[in-house]
Amino acid sequence: MNPSAGSGPVAVAGSPGAAPGTSPGPVPAPVPDDAWALLTDWLPADDDPDRPQITLSTVDPDGGPDARTVLLSSFDRDGFAFHTDAASRKAAQLEADPRVAVTVLWPGFTRQIVVRGVAARADDDRIARAYRARSPYLQQLAWLNSHDFAALPLDERRARWAAFEREHPDGFEQPTGWTGFVVRPTRLTFWTSAPDTASRRREWSLGPDGWAHAYRAG
Ligand SMILES: Cc1cc2nc3c(=O)[nH]c(=O)nc-3n(C[C@H](O)[C@H](O)[C@H](O)COP(=O)(O)O)c2cc1C
Repeated sequence: MNPSAGSGPVAVAGSPGAAPGTSPGPVPAPVPDDAWALLTDWLPADDDPDRPQITLSTVDPDGGPDARTVLLSSFDRDGFAFHTDAASRKAAQLEADPRVAVTVLWPGFTRQIVVRGVAARADDDRIARAYRARSPYLQQLAWLNSHDFAALPLDERRARWAAFEREHPDGFEQPTGWTGFVVRPTRLTFWTSAPDTASRRREWSLGPDGWAHAYRAG
């Protein structure tokens, strides 16, 4: 398989802040043709407002696992982008150890994608585009999503939300704390089921010689 298939070479996603003893693994390379065909068939296009909910799993500085749901903002052959608060726990974890897993689940026993990879901060343009593409509610949330706000009584949270909305009749600028990451895959696993035969996975793994494909038990 051609390891350089796709949209060209990507920068080495090193982990300058990685905890001692951790390794980001192989240098990510663009998704190969056949995996890309599946991704574009399965996932909605970036301009579809109904964004996929993905489980983002990270490693904390003690080596423990963590996970939460985020929206998949966009994807291309270099990776999967999501956006978040720069002061969030996940952002701090990624700073220390960029290794992640992403799970995308379809309803019922139908489909699943699991991506293992390395997260790197998205470029400023991509972060700005993702903010503009978010709904007004999510744009406002990026301003008011603080632990102090969360600790207020419900009435006060409602009043402050409404006041902030009134103070910004023309919409919201991008807050400085808004950031984003691109997960560059080093393994892509597509799970499918069938009512009349065993489920199975198709897996692409990135090694020193590029991407390798295998069928795996479901
Ligand atoms: C359906 C759904 C979508 C979400 N989308 C995002 C998102 O795109 N970005 C984000 O930062 N948090 C999102 N959240 C909130 C996260 O799950 C999480 O609570 C928050 O980001 C804090 O996570 P952390 O403390 O691990 O950083 C979403 C939650 C749900 C349930």
